[in-house]
Amino acid sequence: MKRDVRILLLGEPKVGKTSLIMSLVGEEFPEEVPLRAEEITIPADVTPEKVPTHIVDYSESEQTDEVLKEEIVKANVVCVVYDVTKEETIDMIKNKWIPLVNGDAEKGHKVPIILVGNKSDLRSGSSMETILPIMNQFSEIETCVECSAKNLKNISELFYYAQKAVLHPTAPLYDPEDKQLKAPCVRALTRIFCVSDQDNDRILSDAELNIFQKSCFGNPLAPQALEDVKTVVWKNTSDGVQDNGLTLNGFLFLNTLFIQRGRHETTWTILRRFGYDDSLELLDDYLYPQLRVPAGCTTELNRLGHQFLHRLFDKYDEDKDSALSPTELRNLFCVFPYMPWGAEVYATVPTTEEGYISRHGYLCQWTLSAYLDIHRCLEYLGYLGYPILTEQESQITAVTVTQEKEVDKEKGQSQRSVFLCKVIGPRGTGKTAFLQAFVGRNIVTNGSSQSAFSLYTVNTVQVSNQEKYLILYEVDVETEFLKASDASCDVACLMYDTSDPQSFDYCASIYKQHYMESRVPCVLVASKADLPEAKQLHGTTPTEFCYKHRLPPPLPFSALAHDSNRNDIIYTKLAWAAMFPHLDGSDANGTPLWLKVALGAAVVTVLGFAVYRALARHK
Ligand code: GTP
Ligand code: MG
Repeated sequence: MKRDVRILLLGEPKVGKTSLIMSLVGEEFPEEVPLRAEEITIPADVTPEKVPTHIVDYSESEQTDEVLKEEIVKANVVCVVYDVTKEETIDMIKNKWIPLVNGDAEKGHKVPIILVGNKSDLRSGSSMETILPIMNQFSEIETCVECSAKNLKNISELFYYAQKAVLHPTAPLYDPEDKQLKAPCVRALTRIFCVSDQDNDRILSDAELNIFQKSCFGNPLAPQALEDVKTVVWKNTSDGVQDNGLTLNGFLFLNTLFIQRGRHETTWTILRRFGYDDSLELLDDYLYPQLRVPAGCTTELNRLGHQFLHRLFDKYDEDKDSALSPTELRNLFCVFPYMPWGAEVYATVPTTEEGYISRHGYLCQWTLSAYLDIHRCLEYLGYLGYPILTEQESQITAVTVTQEKEVDKEKGQSQRSVFLCKVIGPRGTGKTAFLQAFVGRNIVTNGSSQSAFSLYTVNTVQVSNQEKYLILYEVDVETEFLKASDASCDVACLMYDTSDPQSFDYCASIYKQHYMESRVPCVLVASKADLPEAKQLHGTTPTEFCYKHRLPPPLPFSALAHDSNRNDIIYTKLAWAAMFPHLDGSDANGTPLWLKVALGAAVVTVLGFAVYRALARHK
């Protein structure tokens, strides 16, 4: 919405422009007026719409045509004043003034105009008959008003209409020639309807209308008002009311009616509540609320975020099979200007046997989105109407910014619930098979059923009785690993092919180059464990290498394993290493954490006893 409003008064000499301004300011008719009034500014708190308003006079005998042009450019709204007793001043509206103001302007960028018939005290009838054809000819004319500077009739109304024309403009909403809502307005109102239709039955019930009304206007509708609204729609449309609720057509009709009756502010209030600006685009402030994510911190959806997403899933899972079919998924995203999830999502998360996105897979994809690009994720939540439906200030309350990673490392444990694992190995090692096995798909025996490919897969694993999300990312070693940041992640999974003698050497060099000096935990995985093992052409065997570098011994993986539990252990180990980065995994295999801690305590006790004895001997 505009921060201030600039109103310019134009018209033939002596129609009473200066007198109108002086009457408004002085609240009485000035017998003597200067040719041109000084520009005046009305402070926000005394204007009806609470915005500072500048009123600018024009006088042909005082101002040049250049100055007039400049004033027109600066104006937000122009009042063309005529004298109701002088036909010739009316003729000049269409012959001179409107062409001067909007002659060069493109459709949709015209300055709104208000026609002002002054000196109504001198005439008994109205000038409407002459004015109406002009109003029909020029769609930029917002309204007309007859007034009198002399007996102060309609003076404040005139300035109120002018203010309203700027703050709640008709042009973006409505096409007066076609007498219908413009396409962008229909699009915006359709999104608002879909968001507000909480049970997805394409009808706004009384309860839904009340929630809608409350979030837009602060209070619910009185029961009678609700019935009146429905009756008006029912009488004027064939399909606006169904099952005692408003259909989309009914909702659009209602807004058309508001506008046709000069109540644009009602439709604007609705649009603004749902995040739209004057050009009916969603505001950046709405879509991208400020969120600071310091270096070393990550972003996750929190309880509120999950609650909202579950609710949304329930709304669009129409057949209640706990999965979203492609149609259901498209419906879920119908409030977006584009489809946010491409085909790659089917390769990224667990799917059902029919290949649909399960509820679990859906949450995995959201988790990935929140982790990789939180601003995008907030934008998505904005389209879905999160702040309105959850009555929250903004989408920010749906996410948690985690503690800095270094702090986690000091403490030896992480409160985070999402971890990123980079899977690194030479081409053809079986990284994709490893990623896909994580989401329950076997691409070795079944082939890749998806046409799309994803560098990510996401699933949950149980670590110490807690559910954690693990993101696997397949590193294309030939294009990545050029800069140090390519190596950063919560855990690195170095993968080599047991059947390929060249394979391990590559892993060893990546380890030495990028991870040996870093604090990123590493886990080695020996892929294709079902094939005969080749002797690796490297100075030491993989097992010796791990021992030397205090890494856990390589974990065998086979995409062909009949027992998927064996593979699951690997994913759990990766999450475990990410969660407890300070514990080098070498002796962690199979040793539960509590035992390690208990053993640690025992060592201290024994040492303490030895120190005590040594001290005692010296006494
Ligand atoms: P320029 O500055 O020359 O362009 O004229 P203007 O449009 O500013 O007109 P101005 O306010 O100077 O008024 C012209 C004459 O009309 C003055 O004599 C006013 O007193 C008179 N007048 C203005 N408004 C009214 C009105 O509402 N009723 C009557 N009866 N006379 C008015
Ligand atoms: Mg004047």
